[in-house]
Amino acid sequence: MFKIAILISGAHGRGSTLINLANACKDGRIPDSEVALVIGTTGASPAIERAREVGLEVAIVSPKAEDYSPKLLATLNRVKPDLICLAGYMRRVPDAVLSAYQHRITNIHPALLPAFGGQGMYGSHVHQAVYDYGVKVTGCTVHYIDAEYDTGPIILQQTVEVPDGATADEIAAKVLVAEHAAYPAAVALIAQGRVSVEGRIVRVAS
Ligand code: GRF
Repeated sequence: MFKIAILISGAHGRGSTLINLANACKDGRIPDSEVALVIGTTGASPAIERAREVGLEVAIVSPKAEDYSPKLLATLNRVKPDLICLAGYMRRVPDAVLSAYQHRITNIHPALLPAFGGQGMYGSHVHQAVYDYGVKVTGCTVHYIDAEYDTGPIILQQTVEVPDGATADEIAAKVLVAEHAAYPAAVALIAQGRVSVEGRIVRVAS
């Protein structure tokens, strides 16, 4: 069984990404897999509530404590996940976790990295920047995590046309549909052992 741990942070996420990944495990879009644990930073989060509502195992590890990094690592090691999926995690992943789970931590970003990425570029900030710039194509990027924000090797990207006159919110909604297709597709490739990384380059075996 391919075990997935999901990391989220803060109290703002809606939880649609984590629910989508959990559903993808149940409906076979990600074969022979399960979401073994959802780790949040606060219990006062709609995403954590949704995870509990659908019966997922939840743990809260507060980043306020100075032992956040060892506690997060110990919590992850309780389930020994094959993959850690960030699903609205707005922090840098602690170095101890990065090295313990090298190339086993993924994220989805709601733009075509490296465009519209980096610190502070999350949620509506991304789509507003896309709107303001006037790009005609945007999309989402599934990538491995490294020590910086949004700079790890790219696994899969999905493009989204920006319709003439679309508002930032309409762009966000279109991109979210693409995200909910792209993230399970990328995780499925990893679960099937078809993904390898050479430096910055990710290769997917057919
Ligand atoms: C997603 O849009 C994803 O791109 C980003 O965080 C957002 C989480 O949305 N990493 P939700 O809370 O899962 O709906």
